[in-house]
Amino acid sequence: MTHLISYSPWTAEEVTRIAPDRQEHAASVVNQLALNFSTWSRDPAVRRAALERFAAVLIEARSRIVDLLVREAGKNRIDAEAEADLLPKKIAISLTAGLARTPQSLSQSLEPHIFWRPRGVAAVLGPFNFPLHLLHGLVIPALAVGCTVIAKPSERCPALGALYGELLATAGLDAVCRVVHGGADVAQALMAQPAITTVAAVGGRTTGLALARALSSRPEVVLALELGGVNPALVLDDADVPTAAVAIAEGAWRMAGQRCTATRHVHVPKSLRSSLIELLIKECQRWVPDGTPNGANGALIDGAAREKFLATYTTAPAGITIIAGDPARRFGKSQCADPLLLEVNDIAARDHALYREEHFGPALIVDTYDDLQECIERMAANPYRLASAVFTASRERFVTLASQLPYGQVNHNRATAGARSDQPFGGLGMAGNARPAALAAGAIFADETVVW
Ligand code: SIN
Repeated sequence: MTHLISYSPWTAEEVTRIAPDRQEHAASVVNQLALNFSTWSRDPAVRRAALERFAAVLIEARSRIVDLLVREAGKNRIDAEAEADLLPKKIAISLTAGLARTPQSLSQSLEPHIFWRPRGVAAVLGPFNFPLHLLHGLVIPALAVGCTVIAKPSERCPALGALYGELLATAGLDAVCRVVHGGADVAQALMAQPAITTVAAVGGRTTGLALARALSSRPEVVLALELGGVNPALVLDDADVPTAAVAIAEGAWRMAGQRCTATRHVHVPKSLRSSLIELLIKECQRWVPDGTPNGANGALIDGAAREKFLATYTTAPAGITIIAGDPARRFGKSQCADPLLLEVNDIAARDHALYREEHFGPALIVDTYDDLQECIERMAANPYRLASAVFTASRERFVTLASQLPYGQVNHNRATAGARSDQPFGGLGMAGNARPAALAAGAIFADETVVW
């Protein structure tokens, strides 16, 4: 792949400097990507070679990536390494199983069949919790199917965004994927560009609403949203409670709870309440950070996030009490937070925003039930239905309940947290807009054509 345009990522300073002309700047980058689309979309072999080169560049840059994830995103080393290792794997899966879902060649068959055409220039907006993995998880399928891409990483991680741009350039992909820096105003400037055909974003509900509003007069632009979740774990009376406690704790507290799929609630029968709580209090200790990257847990993304966490949990509503952890506890100068275990003591508290809405941070709420069916109906009525988990010794009981839980994923005897790259990933209800990503992401960035 020849370099069609030179690489000059916008730094945070440049963004500030060009602020009055942001619209114009967005236009020039997007228009260049639109010109480059015809070359990039033409030859799958060229795309494959370029993306494989990018995988090699990412492997080579692993230690820089890990260091920056620690330094800028506050990850502990284990989580930073896990995120760095996902990047080349994403490329491998997108070029194999991902493309197999969106075949792009026409067959000689006389039978009706489908092929997929890339849509054009895609805008990809990433979140701060996995600043590279979730941005890259959309950039790669878009490039693999033949779109050109303008990628906006979270404004809370500009250095990681700049590194991603540099590595794209090293792989010779800067002509087809440009990284831009900035916040909501840059996103809005991109939405206004007529050449953008597709927008894929991971973020909060407010971001999703703003994007939908910005595109309201252009229904032809595909908008794919992953907007987080309020993810429950359900423990049944036949569950292996010690094993469940380990998985639930990891789902709730790892990565300081800054995952869209983090476990926020655990529903437990009254008969198992005390034993589960006793185990969770012990597990909670395992996830206490030490304020360094070598600790059991990383930090919240920044001081503002820590302040928000503090405000949310020190003013817990009547009917929800803290059983373990202290929201005000400090870990040196870091933005780490103490993992919290809370419990619902009054069912009226289930209507409170603390219970109903997604709050990023290491906090898990225990809620007891008498009537399993009533609990299932309550879980099904949760608006933010990204990930759920059921702990039971019986596969049969699991399968029956899974069919009644309208979540993007229903996991058996495993944490809610984590998405498989080799499966579709997306939330139901207000957790998204029915445009799953991960393995299904190619279908966001390409259109089906029927031939017969
Ligand atoms: C998330 O939980 O934030 C994303 C899912 C994942 O890739 O683990």
